[in-house]
Amino acid sequence: MHGDSYGLQRRRRAALAAAAGVLFATRAEALLIDGPLPERSRDVTVPSVVVFIGGSFGGAIRYSAGISGQVSFVTATKPDKWCSPEQQMGGGPQLQLVWFGDRDLVVVGGGQAGVAADDLLGIGARLEVGAAWHLFESSLGVHTGVHGILGPLELGLRDEWRLDLHALGVGVTFPLPENVYGGRIDMQTTCAIPGRPLRDAAGVRVPSRVAPVETDPNDRAARWRADAQAECEAVASFLQVADALMAAGAPVELVNAALSAAADEVRHALLCAARARDAGLSAADARPVLPDDLTRAARITGPADREAALIRLATESLSDGLLNEGAAAAQAAGDTRRGHDARADRTLRRIAAEERRHAHLGAAIAGWAAHAGGDPVRDAVSDQVRALRAS
Ligand SMILES: [Fe+2]
Ligand SMILES: [Fe+2]
Repeated sequence: MHGDSYGLQRRRRAALAAAAGVLFATRAEALLIDGPLPERSRDVTVPSVVVFIGGSFGGAIRYSAGISGQVSFVTATKPDKWCSPEQQMGGGPQLQLVWFGDRDLVVVGGGQAGVAADDLLGIGARLEVGAAWHLFESSLGVHTGVHGILGPLELGLRDEWRLDLHALGVGVTFPLPENVYGGRIDMQTTCAIPGRPLRDAAGVRVPSRVAPVETDPNDRAARWRADAQAECEAVASFLQVADALMAAGAPVELVNAALSAAADEVRHALLCAARARDAGLSAADARPVLPDDLTRAARITGPADREAALIRLATESLSDGLLNEGAAAAQAAGDTRRGHDARADRTLRRIAAEERRHAHLGAAIAGWAAHAGGDPVRDAVSDQVRALRAS
């Protein structure tokens, strides 16, 4: 056990808790308790242009290039489920101008439709169908196109049937920030909690003290305010993790890493509150509220207590650390592509990098707890993984 070697960590923990108490508000009347997230849906109309280049085949291999303009009527939906991905589908008219080498120039008029498969990674697909008119030969064909989407990029196969023109190519979509059919219609901010979520003594997640921002995705101030609150709650969460690690006799390095993560979350909360002020909130309104109870019951008096504590450390570090903070990192990194100002981008990049580190820490804690606790902990983690896969 490391009981005697935790003195420095305990002093560091006390200093962090005191600093958080000074930096963040503690007024209970500032609380807004959220309810379950309703399913949210948003319809948007997005004009976009795709510039593409590739090679045509069928006969001699030649270059192919073109430009496509389209309007997409998109419905984006976020189901009533924590950390569920955004679903997105839509379609609309399209006009294209495509060269197949120097001698073949085709105008395409028709429609296109697409669906997003993974909004965090920006993966989706788009289909096109229309009429193709060969400008030099005055002949008519049928156009089909199949495109895979990865962020702003499209990899696609286009065919002009009856004209015997076929091409494989890659395209770039403009405008870049709103990535239609790759997902990420900027509608949701609550997929991942930015920071490690807070749990009570029984392991039940404590609802955030600020209602999730779901009605107006363009309300930047409210979004930053909600993020500041979640980051502030993550300070308490990591202080609790450090307590639990010390109680379970974890290596000093892991305790230190949890306290460093708590310090990161202090900075994240301050940065998000600063961005909320940039977006128009007063200093008092932007200031997040520190949870009242920064400790959690972590007294271990026997082997059964230790086993339960290790199971909780392992399973929560997997769900709240590795999965949630990993998703929060990906979301923050993705948010930098949505046309924020430079300060907001710097804030998100920093948060993304540090949340990634917290995700790795979650994996390290889960690994140590499984090693220290043996089969009962490993069985609990296996059950959790099975449940997550099934959900
Ligand atoms: Fe974090
Ligand atoms: Fe954070």
